[in-house]
Amino acid sequence: MTMANKLAALVVLLAFFGPVACQGAICFNGWLRLPRFCPRGSRHGFFPRQRRPAPSGSGLSYGHYLSRGSYCPPAERIVRNAVKKATAENPGIGAGLIRLFFHDCFVRGCDGSVLLTTTNTGNADTEREGPPNKNSLRGFEVIDAAKAAIEAACPGVVSCADIVAFAARDASAILSNGRVNIPTPAGRYDGRESFANETDQLPGPFSNLTDLQNTFSAKGLTSDEMVTLSGAHTIGRARCQFFSSRFADMDPALAAKLRAKCNGNDDTNVDQDDVTPYVLDSQYYRNVIDKKVLFNSDAVLNSTETIMQVTQNAIRRGVWERKFERAMLNMGKIGIKSRTDSGAEIRRVCSRVNGA
Ligand code: HEM
Repeated sequence: MTMANKLAALVVLLAFFGPVACQGAICFNGWLRLPRFCPRGSRHGFFPRQRRPAPSGSGLSYGHYLSRGSYCPPAERIVRNAVKKATAENPGIGAGLIRLFFHDCFVRGCDGSVLLTTTNTGNADTEREGPPNKNSLRGFEVIDAAKAAIEAACPGVVSCADIVAFAARDASAILSNGRVNIPTPAGRYDGRESFANETDQLPGPFSNLTDLQNTFSAKGLTSDEMVTLSGAHTIGRARCQFFSSRFADMDPALAAKLRAKCNGNDDTNVDQDDVTPYVLDSQYYRNVIDKKVLFNSDAVLNSTETIMQVTQNAIRRGVWERKFERAMLNMGKIGIKSRTDSGAEIRRVCSRVNGA
C-alpha cells in the first residue's frame, strides 16, 4: 500500500470511528482539556441532535404537599430554613445547591439520582463520582439535613428530588435578594439508579456553542434557555484547570489577577464573577461582553448567534431574572418520574435507595 493509500484509509477509518472515539471517557462532552482526538464540536458535531419536545412536567403540581396522600405542610418551610442557615454561614453553598439541581435534572431527569451513593444495582460509581461532580458538587449536607427533619415530621412522603428543587429555588431567592422567584411545582419521585458515566450528558467548560446547544436541546431546552441558565455562573466558584488554558483570550487585567491566584495550581478555586461574586444577578452577561468570564463555554455566548440575548440580559433590567425563573421551571420538569413508574420511590435517606 502506498503512503497516499494508507492516509486515505486512515481518513476513512477516522470518519467512521471519530464520533465513537470522542464519546465517553475520551472527550467527556467538553470536560477534558486538550482532547487530542476530539476536534471541537466532535461529540455531537457529526450527528447533531434534534431538540426533544419541551419537558412536560406531567405529574407536577403546586401545593403538592398540601394534597391528600402527600400531606406534609412543613416540608417547604423546613427546606427554606435549612438553606437559609447554610447560606448565611457560606453563600457558596447556595451556588452549590443551584448547580446540584441542574446536575440532577440533566442526568436521568430530576429524580435525585445525583444524591445517591448506594443504588439498586449496588454499583459504586454513581453520578457523584462522575468527572463533572467529583470533588466539585457541594450542598449535599443541606439536602440531608432537610430530609432528616422532613422525615421526622412526615415519613415517606417528600421526595429527595423535590427537596433539591425547593433548595435551588430558595438559594436563588436568597442570593438574588428576593429578585429571582422560581415557580416550583412538586411531585417528583426518586429514582433507584445512578451511573458515573452518564454524567457525560452534562455540558463541559471546554464546549463550543454547537455542543452547548445540542446538549440542552437533548433535554428539550432551547438555545435561549441555555444562554439564560448559563447566567448562574454569576455566583459560585470554579477550579483553575477549567480556564487556565485561556488567559490569553480574557480581559488582560482579569487574566493577570487569575493567573496570580491560580499560581499554576489546577485545583485552586476562584470566584466565577469577579464583580459581584455572591449575588445572583445579570452581571454575568456584562462579563461575557467584557471577556471577563472563565470558561470557553461562557465566552462562546459572545458569538453572533447569541449576542442579542446576552446584550438584552445585560442591559434590560429584570429581563434575565424573569427568563431565569421560566428556564429553571422548565429544567425542573425534565424526565419526571411518577408513582406508577417502575423503579420510582420516595427515598427515606437521600444518599441510598430504600432497602439498600
Ligand atoms: C452551559 C453549560 C455549563 C457548563 C459548561 C458549566 C460548567 C461548570 C463548571 C466547569 C463549573 C466549575 C466546577 C469546578 O470547578 O469544580 C461550574 C460551576 C457552577 N455552575 Fe455551571 N455549567 C454550565 C451550566 C450551568 C447551569 C445551567 C447552572 C445552573 C442553572 C450552573 C450553575 C453553576 C454554579 C452555581 C456553579 C458554581 C458552583 C459552586 O460554587 O459550588 N451551571 N459550572
